[in-house]
Amino acid sequence: MIETEPRRAAAAPSASAPALEVGNLHAWYGESQVLHGVDLRVGVGETVCLLGRNGAGRTSTLRAIMGLTSARSGTVRVFGHDLARVKPHRIAGLGVGYCPEERGIFASLSTRENLLLPPLLHTGFEGFSLAEIDALFPNLKERADAPGTSLSGGEQQMLALARILRTGARLLLLDEISEGLAPVIVQALGRAIASLRDRGFSILLVEQNFHFSARLADRFYVMERGRIVEHFSRQELPHRREQLARLLGV
Ligand SMILES: Nc1ncnc2c1ncn2[C@@H]1O[C@H](COP(=O)(O)OP(=O)(O)O)[C@@H](O)[C@H]1O
Ligand SMILES: [Mg+2]
Repeated sequence: MIETEPRRAAAAPSASAPALEVGNLHAWYGESQVLHGVDLRVGVGETVCLLGRNGAGRTSTLRAIMGLTSARSGTVRVFGHDLARVKPHRIAGLGVGYCPEERGIFASLSTRENLLLPPLLHTGFEGFSLAEIDALFPNLKERADAPGTSLSGGEQQMLALARILRTGARLLLLDEISEGLAPVIVQALGRAIASLRDRGFSILLVEQNFHFSARLADRFYVMERGRIVEHFSRQELPHRREQLARLLGV
């Protein structure tokens, strides 16, 4: 009997594999090497924080995971899928939601129109309904008809995350989501992320300041000059504060 190829590769995540496994990741922008052997892991349902000063290589790590740096070597697996064989535009289809520093919402559309746009990238999993988005981000619900141009930085950040949740992403890569936002908005984002964590999402938070992630993350990595230089659990955080403040210059 001749075996026929399955029409579509299985999109379902492997039950036992971690959400994200990065091994010995090197990356370059042209001639310039920015990552020098990064190892990190996010278990399914785990929230992990990647800390570092500006220029440490955190955004480059996320970009290399997504196949957006000009060159990379090493291994990246999401839910057990080896990304070496996956084209960048297909990575989101495995359930990865990347929220870059620049938020990429449509300024000419209202909040609700932004949420109703057919997602550019489908993950194959069911995304959040509008009712679920409203429940998670009451601030956005109040601003449903407001044009994108009138949204505050924090509202834009929520909208960017909401759009990712609409796609059905299960692993969230969030780059400096709290940066430059008013404390009340940072608190609202923190509550939303805690609720996603409680619902079983796997989350990698990139931050410069550990205060935002201190109550959210199960584990912490610290990056310096393209390398992971520290790794510790939430339980160890109280003993690491001084060292962290020194490493991060906060
Ligand atoms: N597009 C790029 N081309 C060349 N070098 C870059 C580019 N983006 C970032 N870099 C360099 O890579 C290093 C790491 O930057 P980045 O990953 O943005 O750090 P972080 O996100 O931790 O602030 C820095 O030295 C930065 O100047
Ligand atoms: Mg960055």
